[in-house]
Amino acid sequence: MAIDVTSVDEALATTRAVRRRLDLSRPVDHQLILDCIDIAEQAPSGGNQGRRRWVVVRDPAIKAGLAQLYLDAAGRWMIEARDALAGTGHPQERVMASAAHLAEHLAEVPVIVIPTILGVHDGSRRPGLFDSVIQSVWSFCVALRARGLGTAWTTAVLQQRRALAELLDLPEDLTPIALIPVAWTKGTDFKRAPRHPARAITYVDRFAQTWERGPGDPPTLADGPGTVAELDVRAPIATVWHHVVAHAERAADGAPVTREEPGRRVGWVTGEPADPAERWWFELEPIAGAVRLRHRLVLGAGASGLAAAVAGAAAPQRHATIAAHLAGQHAALHAAVQAIRVAAEDDAAGTRP
Ligand SMILES: Cc1cc2nc3c(=O)[nH]c(=O)nc-3n(C[C@H](O)[C@H](O)[C@H](O)COP(=O)(O)O)c2cc1C
Repeated sequence: MAIDVTSVDEALATTRAVRRRLDLSRPVDHQLILDCIDIAEQAPSGGNQGRRRWVVVRDPAIKAGLAQLYLDAAGRWMIEARDALAGTGHPQERVMASAAHLAEHLAEVPVIVIPTILGVHDGSRRPGLFDSVIQSVWSFCVALRARGLGTAWTTAVLQQRRALAELLDLPEDLTPIALIPVAWTKGTDFKRAPRHPARAITYVDRFAQTWERGPGDPPTLADGPGTVAELDVRAPIATVWHHVVAHAERAADGAPVTREEPGRRVGWVTGEPADPAERWWFELEPIAGAVRLRHRLVLGAGASGLAAAVAGAAAPQRHATIAAHLAGQHAALHAAVQAIRVAAEDDAAGTRP
C-alpha cells in the first residue's frame, strides 16, 4: 500500500500533549485501545523479546486512586504554580495552566493507560529496558491521534512507585514507564509546536559541527560550516544578557555588535560585512529554572587566512582543514560560555564585589 506521507507527517507532527481539550464526557471503546496497542506493538524491541505489558485503567475507583497519586506527586505543585504564574506572561504560564487542568481532572478522563515493561533497569549500558518501550508508547499516542483521540505523556506519578504498584497490583520485577490519559479530543485541529530547526541541532560527522547549507561534496566554506557551544546558566536572564553583551563587545574587537533581538540574541561579524569571513553570535533561551546559553560561529567564503589556506588545498585536505579549524574554535566558544556562566552565577549569588 502506498503511504500517504502528508498524513503520516501531520500525525507525527501534531501529536501534542492534550490536556484541556480532552473530552471527559465521551466514552472510549476498549477495542479502539486494543487496535492502537496492536499498532504500537509493531515497534522494535531489543532481542525481539515481547516484554511490553499495557495496563488500561477504566474503573472509576482506580482512576480516582491514580489521580490522587498524581496530585501527591506533582499535581498540587502544578496547581500552585499555575495560580502563581497566572497573568504574568511567564514562558511557562500556558503549560502550567494546562498541566494543572489535567491534575484537577485526571479521575474524569475516560481511560488511563500505564505502559510497562517486564524487568527492572539494571543501569548497564547494554540496550536497556526503556529503549524497548518508549518508541512503542509513542506509536500508541500517534495511532490514537490519527483516530481523533488525544493523549498526554506524563511521568509525574512514577515518583509514587510503591503506591502505584499497590494500586495496580504491579509485580516487583516490572517497570511502569508513563501514565497516558486517553480521550476523544474537542476538535482535531492541533498545530505543530515551535521547535529548534533541524539544521541548528544536527551535527555532521563530529559533535557540534553544523552546516548552513548542503554540505556539498566536497564541502566548501560557501556551505557555511559552523560550530556551537551551549550550556545552562542558573541566573536571571537580564544578568546573563549583561555578561554576554560585555563579552561580545570585547570579542568583537571594534566590529559593530548587533543586538538582533535585545535580551535574546547578539552578534558580530569579521571581515567584509557584505561577505563575512566569520559570523559570531550568542542566543539566550529561557528554560525551566535556567537560561540556555548558546554561542555560535558560522564561517563564510569572505577573505581570511582560512579561506586562503582552503583555496590552495586539494579537495580532501580542504574538508580536513575546515574540520580542524572548527574543532579549535569550538574549544574557544566553550571557554567563552563557561566564563559567562561563572560570572553570571556568581553575580546572581551575590558573590561578586
Ligand atoms: C518524559 C516526559 C515526561 C512528562 N511528564 C509530564 C507530566 O508529568 N505531566 C504533564 O502534564 N506533562 C508531562 N509531559 C508533557 C510535556 O510537558 C509536553 O510534552 C511539553 O510541554 C511539550 O508539549 P507538546 O508535547 O504538546 O509539544 C511529559 C513529557 C515527557 C516527554
